[in-house]
Amino acid sequence: MNDAWNQVRVRAASAEDGAMDEASNQVRVRAARICDDAALASLDAVAWTAESGIPSVLARPAAAFFSDGAGAEEYLVAELAGRLVGYVAIKPVTHLAENAHVLGIAGIAVAPDVRRAGVGAALLTAAEELARARGARKLSLRVLGTNPAAQRLYQRLGFEIEGILRDEFAINGRYVDDVLMAKPLRGHT
Ligand SMILES: CC(C)(COP(=O)(O)OP(=O)(O)OC[C@H]1O[C@@H](n2cnc3c(N)ncnc32)[C@H](O)[C@@H]1OP(=O)(O)O)[C@@H](O)C(=O)NCCC(=O)NCCS
Repeated sequence: MNDAWNQVRVRAASAEDGAMDEASNQVRVRAARICDDAALASLDAVAWTAESGIPSVLARPAAAFFSDGAGAEEYLVAELAGRLVGYVAIKPVTHLAENAHVLGIAGIAVAPDVRRAGVGAALLTAAEELARARGARKLSLRVLGTNPAAQRLYQRLGFEIEGILRDEFAINGRYVDDVLMAKPLRGHT
């Protein structure tokens, strides 16, 4: 994906009741910039729960979102009415040349107050477009078994379960599956 805005129309719930005008009814997905750091850190602080993220990771102090100023090139962000409301990270799953045809979704989050409006789907669609542009043959991800909302989103967009690591994490007194999902990107240049 180049730097051009990738505009995706947000579904019409707000338009139906007339609460938002045409401009504010669009989510725009673009490449992240280093200057998005503070907004992303604020979003990250409220977006995750023990059902969607790993508590010990969530508990790490996060003064900055991008570690030592690097990493913005691996993120796309979504804006709604000029406000940063979501992000997705796309990274190689390993550094192996033999594994280079696979890219991974390494995190996706949407601000709680704008969920179920299509922002997550817009981010994933843009991530898939970016992965195809980078020549990937497959887009993969991992999602906790306690996160049916994210699993449903992924399934809606064509991701399928490739495997389940049973009881992979112990979170708040119970064992939780790690669900491996992926979408083949073959047939596109
Ligand atoms: C998962 C997440 C990114 C979804 O973002 P979103 O903007 O609400 O997603 P969308 O509005 O694009 O939803 C698209 C579809 O996904 C599914 N979906 C999304 N949230 C859902 C929920 N809470 N319950 C059931 N299905 C849900 C639905 O099929 C939905 O389509 P519909 O609204 O027409 O039914 C968001 O809930 C989030 O940030 N969660 C916390 C972080 C997280 O879990 N990240 C994923 C880690 S693997």
